[in-house]
Amino acid sequence: MGTVTKDIIPKLRAVPIFADLGTGDLESLSSFVGYKQLPKGTFILTQHERGSTLYLLVSGRVKVSLTSPDGKELALNYLDSPSHFGEMSLVDSEPRSADVIACTDVELLTLDAKDLSRAVQLQPRLALSLIATLSRRLRQTIERLQELAFHDATHRVMRVLLNIATAAYETRGVPVIAGFTHYEIATVAGTSRETASRVISQLAKEQVLATRGRRIVVDLVRLRDRLERE
Ligand code: CMP
Repeated sequence: MGTVTKDIIPKLRAVPIFADLGTGDLESLSSFVGYKQLPKGTFILTQHERGSTLYLLVSGRVKVSLTSPDGKELALNYLDSPSHFGEMSLVDSEPRSADVIACTDVELLTLDAKDLSRAVQLQPRLALSLIATLSRRLRQTIERLQELAFHDATHRVMRVLLNIATAAYETRGVPVIAGFTHYEIATVAGTSRETASRVISQLAKEQVLATRGRRIVVDLVRLRDRLERE
């Protein structure tokens, strides 16, 4: 086994959809994955283009987003490593459903359609893991659609803050929003940067959150309470 292949195995193992593969299967898989390092700001995928590569994000963060013809942006999701994207076109042969942009420098492993089928043959549970992720992302998208249809921009900004801070609390034990600008929070909430900043400073005045430099520390109980009263 070459050194590069050996280095790839722990990266592959860390990607949740491959968690069930044994070391032997990971070794076989590692011989047909590609490796890429891309700088922050790179468009990794562009909406409407054709492609049949699955990307495994092994370090960094990407943004999945849509841009309107007049340049407005709606962020569908932020994905942190370890994660994957690009499975939709690979599975349904339709063009890419969204842009995927590197928010930080990223490291990626790539797998093409025939190699994914080989991987599924090695471990059929992989197909179920892919479906489980799709299903979870569809649920998140339904929730977002509900927010856009039934709630105003202030409510949506608070919901985004609550979701990001809750995810940080669950993974790192601290309800802190780090690495997101007000513009980025606005693109997830489907509103303007000005509205996002106004809501954040109002919540700071009410001591629902505190801004410390580029970090926002959220009082999850108060924010949940505040959302229920909206
Ligand atoms: P694909 O359509 O091939 O290319 C764009 C990718 O963005 C898509 O596959 C998914 O992997 C990812 N994607 C699209 N919509 C969402 C979403 N709502 N949440 C997370 N990821 C998404």
